[in-house]
Amino acid sequence: MAETTAAACCQNPMDIHSMHTRTCGELRRENIGEEVTLTGWVWRRRDHGGLIFCDLRDRDGITQCTFDPEHAAGTAFHTAETMRSEWAILVHGTVIARDEETVNPKLATGEIEVLADRVEVLGRSKTPPFQIEDGIETSEDTRLRYRYLDLRRPEMMAAMRLRSDFTFAIREAFHKRAFMEVETPALFKSTPEGARDFIVPSRMNEGEFYALPQSPQLLKQLLMVGGVERYYQVAKCFRDEDLRADRQPEFTQVDVEMSFVDQDDVMGMMEDVMKDAFAAVGVDLPTPLRRISYWDAMDTYGTDKPDTRYGMELHDVTEIFANSKFKLFAGAAAKDGQYVKALNAKGAGTWPRAQIDKLADVAAGFGAKGLAWIAFREDGSVNSPIVKFFSDDEMAALRSEMDVEPGDLVMFAVADRKSADEILGGMRCHMADALGVERPGHDFLWVVDFPLFHWDEDGKRYAAEHQPFTQPVVEDLDKLESDPLAVGSYTYDFVMDGFEAGGGGIRIHDPEVQMRVLKLLGFTEERAREQFGFLMEALEFGAPPMGGCALGLDRVCMLLAGKDSIRDVMAFPKTSSGADLMSGAPSAVSGRQLKEAGIRLL
Ligand code: AMO
Repeated sequence: MAETTAAACCQNPMDIHSMHTRTCGELRRENIGEEVTLTGWVWRRRDHGGLIFCDLRDRDGITQCTFDPEHAAGTAFHTAETMRSEWAILVHGTVIARDEETVNPKLATGEIEVLADRVEVLGRSKTPPFQIEDGIETSEDTRLRYRYLDLRRPEMMAAMRLRSDFTFAIREAFHKRAFMEVETPALFKSTPEGARDFIVPSRMNEGEFYALPQSPQLLKQLLMVGGVERYYQVAKCFRDEDLRADRQPEFTQVDVEMSFVDQDDVMGMMEDVMKDAFAAVGVDLPTPLRRISYWDAMDTYGTDKPDTRYGMELHDVTEIFANSKFKLFAGAAAKDGQYVKALNAKGAGTWPRAQIDKLADVAAGFGAKGLAWIAFREDGSVNSPIVKFFSDDEMAALRSEMDVEPGDLVMFAVADRKSADEILGGMRCHMADALGVERPGHDFLWVVDFPLFHWDEDGKRYAAEHQPFTQPVVEDLDKLESDPLAVGSYTYDFVMDGFEAGGGGIRIHDPEVQMRVLKLLGFTEERAREQFGFLMEALEFGAPPMGGCALGLDRVCMLLAGKDSIRDVMAFPKTSSGADLMSGAPSAVSGRQLKEAGIRLL
């Protein structure tokens, strides 16, 4: 019979080619009597006069090791006496059953313990700055400063594992469908995704800079011209923008592009791949996914990334107040393009006046100049600064439209369509949080039919709704110059639990159309050629119809892990001011380095 190899006898691949024969998470009743070697970190050590209990933790779990002077050989017992939290150790011993009264049902390994006969100290530890366990209250700055310790905590390890499993499954799903993984450079030219670039000086070309890619957008289009046909990449992207809980300067996209496809092909492929990848982490993605048009999402939920797990929908009540004595509402109804929209926050009608008044500040944060409201008290009375202007008919129509019940708070926004939507969309999320509205499970959908452009009030110019390489709807091409805001695009956003978790579109593959779009975005022909000449040129060599999508891997993992911030699913994230507290980056560089890069600081 062939010799039994380590690989053949171990159930757990973690135990192959390692100092340990088992992990701290795998021993059960069936292993009683087995001789094992475990490695890990001392989590808790209890000295029970004569017996020492040490809970040993590795990435897999926790196992209780017991040191009894009768069993622990040589200096092992003494070593166990000196061991402290977070020391890295190796324990050799025998798996034994725990006494009935010491069985720990909360621990997967709680029925057994390892009776130690040998221990080796592999690495001593200073007293850690925080307890290595779940649910700690330590500030995030301290956790980030000592991230390597934070990662030892089981909840962080679980998030890392989930991310790894999901990424592996998505790679497998693409590979199965004939996609090639192609790496694209990080030192490249600016790719306009709407953020500022991080730039890198070139020592060999003084005065010239690379830009770190905001996404591999242009390169994946060139891969399509190059005949790759089905591309994906787990790609690092870099954007110098204001950071939030769901935004980091350096993040990861699962980037995808396909040739000879239309938008249904791309969305269908993404659904198939995501279904497999979500299933690998135990989540069902019900396909085909629902699709909501951009304007339906805006008008109903006040956002292009709606969380539809709860209602609280926006209503257009402009007509109800067309002849109202309340001039603000009637005035809006009389003007073209102005709307009165309303939102009913059930439960907030019982709030005290002072609390309701504070909502005006919240609404101001979403662009409102003020906030009109009506509180319908539980005793049937109505409290509101504006209700005195309304007729009985107006109130009756409002009650019916907004499905008013005692305890409701109806809020109004008066503005142009998009602004009114955005104000109430912001209030909808705020009120859902404030009222603790349940959002069970996950919510997946596509938002489709985005306009090609929007008007950028600050820049006083048209700006690309997604990015400048998006294909305009073919039927709208003749309106491109005459009525740009009416031109639709083939774009789609993947929305998960109210977050934009991905986005993509069909690309322009006709160089003339590309130039027309760039001109509308304010580029002269010269500047367009200077910045995107290589793309325009490539499109002149038989570019195939193409389209793709990019998933925000950090955001998807954050939602899968039930976290509030993408920092909790990234091994080494940056703070909101872009700093890495562990290494101290960014930091000053030497005068020599600056000189070599040809840079003089002001
Ligand atoms: P977009 O700019 O929409 O599209 O980005 C795709 C997805 O990436 C995620 N994302 C981010 N995640 C964390 N931090 C950030 N700063 C950040 N910025 C974006 C979001 C977003 O949906 N090239 C196109 C894709 C395409 O058209 O194929 C692109 O980059 O989840």
